[in-house]
Amino acid sequence: MTFLAAQTRDRKSDRPAAVASPLVIREETRGDFAAREALLNAALGPARFEKTSERLREGRKPARGLALAASLNGKVVGTVRLWHIDAGRAPALLLGPLAVSAEHRSLGIGAALMRSALRRARMRGHKAVLLVGDAAYYERFGFSRARAVALEMPGPVDDSRFLALELAPGALGRAAGKVTPACEFAGAPALRMAA
Ligand SMILES: CC(C)(COP(=O)(O)OP(=O)(O)OC[C@H]1O[C@@H](n2cnc3c(N)ncnc32)[C@H](O)[C@@H]1OP(=O)(O)O)[C@@H](O)C(=O)NCCC(=O)NCCS
Repeated sequence: MTFLAAQTRDRKSDRPAAVASPLVIREETRGDFAAREALLNAALGPARFEKTSERLREGRKPARGLALAASLNGKVVGTVRLWHIDAGRAPALLLGPLAVSAEHRSLGIGAALMRSALRRARMRGHKAVLLVGDAAYYERFGFSRARAVALEMPGPVDDSRFLALELAPGALGRAAGKVTPACEFAGAPALRMAA
């Protein structure tokens, strides 16, 4: 678990409140399912299921230890997950979706989730991470377009948003071609929903 000091927002002024609350970044549990799905629906809407990235995740389990929840005062306020992929013959992870509940944004929770996810991925020996997202946000964590130029997602994406990060230098040096799913399949539909 990671404990951080995060501010909450004053309801009347919508300004960060002075008193810090403990933010916990921890592995997701089955009990987080409803809160996570509600958060993702509110943040990304049903279009999230149409994204090309979803073709690499659907029906599969996230990478072990890399489905994280940000919890503030016991409430899930953020989520991020990583998934095994084959990135042009290099083993890698796909990051996403990342989301923070609207009332808790710009407090550093997204950054805390990202840093924790990348640190945990590195500790588990993963060597590279890909994602589709705004470079203006993800570049601060080291993601770049340059590392992903030789790779091809399995459907339409805006190329300028297809980014990569090497956790081990040179991990994507020879990677070229299609990105394909490599995560274990989820089990029965009920389990799949909770994965
Ligand atoms: C993207 C998201 C996860 C960031 O979470 P967060 O907790 O607000 O992030 P942080 O507090 O670490 O960083 C906030 C800063 O990033 C900036 N930022 C947020 N989204 C951004 C984006 N898409 N592009 C550029 N900057 C962005 C904010 O303006 C803010 O800047 P400030 O500190 O100067 O005010 C959150 O805005 C969110 O859930 N958005 C909706 C879902 C989404 O788009 N997910 C990403 C899918 S690729």
